[in-house]
Amino acid sequence: MRVDTAPKHAARSTSEWWRSAIIYQVYPRSFADSNGDGMGDLPGITSRMGSLASLGIDAIWLSPFMRSPQKDAGYDVSDYTDVDPLFGTLQDFDAMVSAAHAAGIRVLIDLVPNHTSSQHRWFQAALAAVEGSPEREFYHFKDGRGESGELPPNNWLSLFGGPAWTRTTNADGSLGQWYCHLFDSSQPDLNWENPLVQEAFEDILRFWLDRGVDGFRVDQPHAMGKAPGLPDHPDIERAGAGFIEGEPSPPMWFQESVHPIFRRWRAVLDSYEGERAMCGEAYVLPLSFMALWVRPDEFHQTFNFRFLDSEWNSQIIFETINESFAAFDAVGAPSTWVLSNHDVIRHASRMGGVKGRPTASDGIGPKSAQPDRELGLKRARAATLFTLALPGSMYLYQGEELGLPEHTTLADEFRQDPTFYRTGGVRVGRDGCRVPLPWEAGAGPANGFNSTGKAWLPQPEIYAEYSRDRQDGVQGSTLELYKLAIRLRKELKLGDGSFEWVPEFTNEKTLGFRNGEILVIHNFGSEPLQLPALKIVASSQNGLTLGATLSADQTVWLAV
Ligand code: GLC
Repeated sequence: MRVDTAPKHAARSTSEWWRSAIIYQVYPRSFADSNGDGMGDLPGITSRMGSLASLGIDAIWLSPFMRSPQKDAGYDVSDYTDVDPLFGTLQDFDAMVSAAHAAGIRVLIDLVPNHTSSQHRWFQAALAAVEGSPEREFYHFKDGRGESGELPPNNWLSLFGGPAWTRTTNADGSLGQWYCHLFDSSQPDLNWENPLVQEAFEDILRFWLDRGVDGFRVDQPHAMGKAPGLPDHPDIERAGAGFIEGEPSPPMWFQESVHPIFRRWRAVLDSYEGERAMCGEAYVLPLSFMALWVRPDEFHQTFNFRFLDSEWNSQIIFETINESFAAFDAVGAPSTWVLSNHDVIRHASRMGGVKGRPTASDGIGPKSAQPDRELGLKRARAATLFTLALPGSMYLYQGEELGLPEHTTLADEFRQDPTFYRTGGVRVGRDGCRVPLPWEAGAGPANGFNSTGKAWLPQPEIYAEYSRDRQDGVQGSTLELYKLAIRLRKELKLGDGSFEWVPEFTNEKTLGFRNGEILVIHNFGSEPLQLPALKIVASSQNGLTLGATLSADQTVWLAV
């Protein structure tokens, strides 16, 4: 490992909150259920605000709670300015935002601009209208290929499996045009060339900003632009539904035409008081390409998917961190760090010996090899502690502070993810990371998620062991490790701090870096590591004392 040529990162004196924030993802369906119908809701979030505050986080990001037929767990919106009755009302939303703000927590909400639900009034109007009409211009409608239009207009594939096109039926029963959907057929892609679509979304931004939100997490922004004429993907065999890293943009991903849109959105956010911010789910790699999305007048942040995707191995993590600082420092943006979210296998399971790309959203089913729970949790705790010392902003996914594993034995009958259905069960999908949280062990069959025990996805029995009440105030628990590390990170200003590798500890077996006065060491090897005689500030290894050795798969923060 060439430490001498690796990038260093300088501390910042500017203090915009989003540069160093810890942002906790709330998945409303599974956070807390106040009315016992089995689906988490906004009053449930409000009722647990104290627990969020005690974690020490700066902000929450809420996955979608807007009106939706829930074909993709709310990422199929049918009304962008209303709350789905499943989750409550706009008044419940206001109450939740007030409670968050009173607790010193900012609120980001999920905005899904690439596609609407097929139930959205725009799409319903488009279906009812004739070919070439202004209503159809809201989406991508095209004639099929072949003699009678029986073939899809191009070779694009859906990320959830199958073709990216579905054929419509006309009012008289005859077969009509096709419409494009990069995800499920219930999620038609909007036509972002249409100024009416652009205006409508600026109004939607203002609607929520006026209601007091601190910003947005923007879903699939790199999918919004489509190459003029919607040409075939030139290399579909190699790219599948995605893109080939480092090669120019294919016709449906990261088109240049989207950047002016985000510059206008940034201006809208900047016109409001307070530091409103937006984070793009721009799945664009390498990171030097992604960095173009966080130039000073565009997104504030993007998710660092390289880090999320990285196997937890010293060489790969070394390269990933170097790539991150090189790319984001070049445009003056913070890197974000993320280990889990609602689309990937929870890192406590991923790190338990299961191979494969976490972002492939393949999931782990009862028929797959099962992860080693103990090993996975040990590595996950250490990986989190390591990551929390990196400068930049960090995203946490609800439940990871409990060390929660994936539900890996969920029966098929409960599955809801369209990935499962569109691939005939070959990819079991993302339900396993979306299971309701256990709050109090034995408080009803759903461990305090609600009082009735109903749950839209059943918890596995082992979840009781991970309940929050079993960990709160318990020395050495995963929850207390998160609280301690988040508190120290803030006190020591690590989020705005500096970064450089420490050569002595940077090799195939260990990684070591300094952030200000803190030396962080992670032991990737299989042998215990003799530590320098420095004060121990935090450690994933319980009971670690001065002069002791750091076991395999453990992290320590030392005071230099
Ligand atoms: C994003 C969301 C994912 C959703 C997809 C389509 O990747 O995180 O959950 O299925 O977009 O909206």
